[in-house]
Amino acid sequence: MAQILDGLKISKEIKTEIRYDVEKIVEGKRRPPHLVAILVGQNGASIAYVNNKIKDCREVGFKSSLVKFPSTVSEAELLEKINELNLSKDVDGFIVQLPLPPQIDQEKIIMAIDPRKDVDGFHPENFGKMALEMDTFLPATPFGILTLLERYQIDTKGKHCVIIGRSRIVGKPMSILMGRKDFPGNSTVTLTHSYTPHIEEFTKNADIVITALGDPNFLKGDMIKQGAIVIDVGITRIEDQSDKGYKLVGDVDFESCKEIAGAITPVPGGVGPMTRAMLMKNTLLAYKTSVY
Ligand code: GUN
Repeated sequence: MAQILDGLKISKEIKTEIRYDVEKIVEGKRRPPHLVAILVGQNGASIAYVNNKIKDCREVGFKSSLVKFPSTVSEAELLEKINELNLSKDVDGFIVQLPLPPQIDQEKIIMAIDPRKDVDGFHPENFGKMALEMDTFLPATPFGILTLLERYQIDTKGKHCVIIGRSRIVGKPMSILMGRKDFPGNSTVTLTHSYTPHIEEFTKNADIVITALGDPNFLKGDMIKQGAIVIDVGITRIEDQSDKGYKLVGDVDFESCKEIAGAITPVPGGVGPMTRAMLMKNTLLAYKTSVY
């Protein structure tokens, strides 16, 4: 039976560490870090994500603000708000929750964010710095996975890491980070995606498998090798009869994989809470490195 990589527990530890830092800041008569979230439209998952980010800010002692726009907002209006936040001495970091409605050019929006306040790590300047192993904001989900591997002292050096999915938020940065020279890294990385034939031929040979494709229960126990480290980034909402009306299902078929894997992340309670904690960590970093 695999070791459970408890992201919820580790995320609580990290938030406690951040809270402690913030207490010292406030005792020193400085203002606390301030994160702003921009939410466009009524996407249920986006609303839930943003509300969680605001809740996390409260928990660690940050100031937070939520800026809401209707789904009909123009690109110009959004760019104006971004410019205002870029210039504000009261704001350390901000995020624009994705996805955006079709009339908005996502790349243009990301490019408009001051890289020093880009706590999502999505701006090409920050992505480039990440790839070149320079100090910068790491995208929250890959950063969360690295931190989880680090805290559980999982050896990644010289291991074969297979990543499924090449999104800009998870798969692509993860593939770069696992191959970097710093710990946890130094893996040999294979990035698989929707055009990779016979993905199981890769996953069966992997020491570490990271799935980020959004296909519920895709990875079965017979697709991994004995003792593999299995990291599940997938979170698909499946409607059910519960109070919430849905449950979250990962890309990994937990029941069959837990018998074969050496360690595995659960859904929920694995990568999700780690992602949330890393946004707080990036915001604290933005605060500490800001010129204000
Ligand atoms: N949509 C899904 N994940 C994210 C994230 O980490 N940041 C932003 N801004 N939008 C998202």
